[in-house]
Amino acid sequence: ITFYVPRDSGALALGAEKVAKTLENEITARKLDAKIVRNGSRGMYWLEPMVEVETPGGRVAYGPVKASDVAALLDGGLAEGRVHPLWLGLTEHLPFLSKQTRLTFARCGITDPVSLDDYRAHDGLKGLQNALTLSRAEIVAQVTESGLRGRGGAGFPTGIKWKTVLDTLAPQKYIVCNADEGDSGTFADRMIMEGDPFVLIEGMAIAGIAVEATKGYIYIRSEYPHAIAVMNEAIEVARKAGVLGASVLGSSYVFDIEVRVGAGAYVCGEETALLESLEGRRGIVRAKPPLPAHKGLFGKPTVINNVISLASVPVIMDRGAAFYKDFGMGRSRGTIPLQIAGNVKYAGLFEAAFGLTLGEIVDDIGGGTATGRPVKAVQVGGPLGAYFPRSLFDTPFDYEAFAAKDGLIGHAGLVVFDDSVDMLKQARFAMEFCAVESCGKCTPCRIGSTRGVEVVDRLSANIEPEKQIAVLTDLCNTMKFGSLCALGGFTPYPVMSALNHFPEDFRPAPIAVA
Ligand code: NAI
Ligand code: SF4
Repeated sequence: ITFYVPRDSGALALGAEKVAKTLENEITARKLDAKIVRNGSRGMYWLEPMVEVETPGGRVAYGPVKASDVAALLDGGLAEGRVHPLWLGLTEHLPFLSKQTRLTFARCGITDPVSLDDYRAHDGLKGLQNALTLSRAEIVAQVTESGLRGRGGAGFPTGIKWKTVLDTLAPQKYIVCNADEGDSGTFADRMIMEGDPFVLIEGMAIAGIAVEATKGYIYIRSEYPHAIAVMNEAIEVARKAGVLGASVLGSSYVFDIEVRVGAGAYVCGEETALLESLEGRRGIVRAKPPLPAHKGLFGKPTVINNVISLASVPVIMDRGAAFYKDFGMGRSRGTIPLQIAGNVKYAGLFEAAFGLTLGEIVDDIGGGTATGRPVKAVQVGGPLGAYFPRSLFDTPFDYEAFAAKDGLIGHAGLVVFDDSVDMLKQARFAMEFCAVESCGKCTPCRIGSTRGVEVVDRLSANIEPEKQIAVLTDLCNTMKFGSLCALGGFTPYPVMSALNHFPEDFRPAPIAVA
């Protein structure tokens, strides 16, 4: 019998370790012929810890399981997948999973994250093997043709970025993976690093071969200790198996990866601050140009991609650019792992082709709010993303469609709020966040954010509200157009969307006259 208990930090936070230990003790005490695989999460966090058991008909899920449930579950036929109050049925038939198009996350929650045999048995390394039969330019052309765009948030075409690095001649080039996932409500990078680390290793190796880089770095935020541990373990396994090292899968290509740990600054997710930090300096934004693609890590041409961008490459190289491109809408091709969080009934990761509307995501997939109150706003794209009201719920999830509504999809995190949220407080939070996280290099961000907090505070105190709103709007314009990077430049999105869509929260309620 094979049981699956996730080792993903989301599941661990909800007690998965205790569940696994109790199950292990029960297996020993009952002399069961059984093993426990510590898999990644399937991404249905309201059901974690979710325990699965292999049955002839497929895996059967139970959840959320507490350690105190384990003995009764075994008495009730957990080993046979029998019905019990925590029984959820066949995992693959759970609507939240069966409605998804899992390309990048195809293996997450299914395999043992650090078993390379398991990875291979589930189509792993096929993309890298295919890449080894192509020229560098052909690999880059495939990635370009697939339509893949940077999943960190900016949506820049990945193939074009790679081509810039390929065309820049230098004796040393680098691949840097940005795993400094700092956006509120996002967890896709963490979940894939903990649930399927080999897919990131494979994607980075393909990138290395494509642009002639021999060394890769994964910059992981220090708040992700489990992801750091799993990545390090997987890199060691990949090295021993010859996937990484002096001869990638027996070829003449050299490629190795090292994990580097951040120190807790949000701005280090900005690519040039990240490079500074990787080089051992304080994370301060560099002016562009030069682009990292020309002059990046240690002054060498560097591909910097987000985890999900790199982890999407193996399926493209395995199934072909046309297969991947077939999903999506407009210029947003392929799939996007939506991270549904905040005050929502079904919080989790939902990978789907671009094009679902915001309303479908929040109401149908997310099930509305956890509190049962009406949804008032959804912040899309992290703390620098705009707040969307219900009236914009027909917006399709697509880079251009969101930009047209003065928003951004960013790293595809969605944080849901019910009608008890005070949007003036959210605007203050955005300014305060910017003030705390600003690297201090440019004035609109460094000073503007602090002045922004003061203006919002005057608004809250009802001191000349019309004047404050004019100052706030002006300040946001200065920050948007005068900041060096997205931190100062994008803070106006949450502030102005809160003001424009929820003006009633910015003006004092009229005093009732008897
Ligand atoms: P950007 O638009 O300046 O650049 C996008 C990428 O394309 C960069 O890697 C840049 O170096 C590259 N690039 C641009 N032109 C190129 C060319 N001709 N050849 C090769 N490469 C080229 O955007 P930026 O400032 O890097 O990112 C801003 C985004 O970051 C925002 O949209 C926001 O959504 C996102 N973000 C993500 C966070 C997260 O936690 N994932 C946190 C905060 C912001
Ligand atoms: Fe630094 Fe803010 Fe300027 Fe970005 S916008 S460079 S974080 S001061």
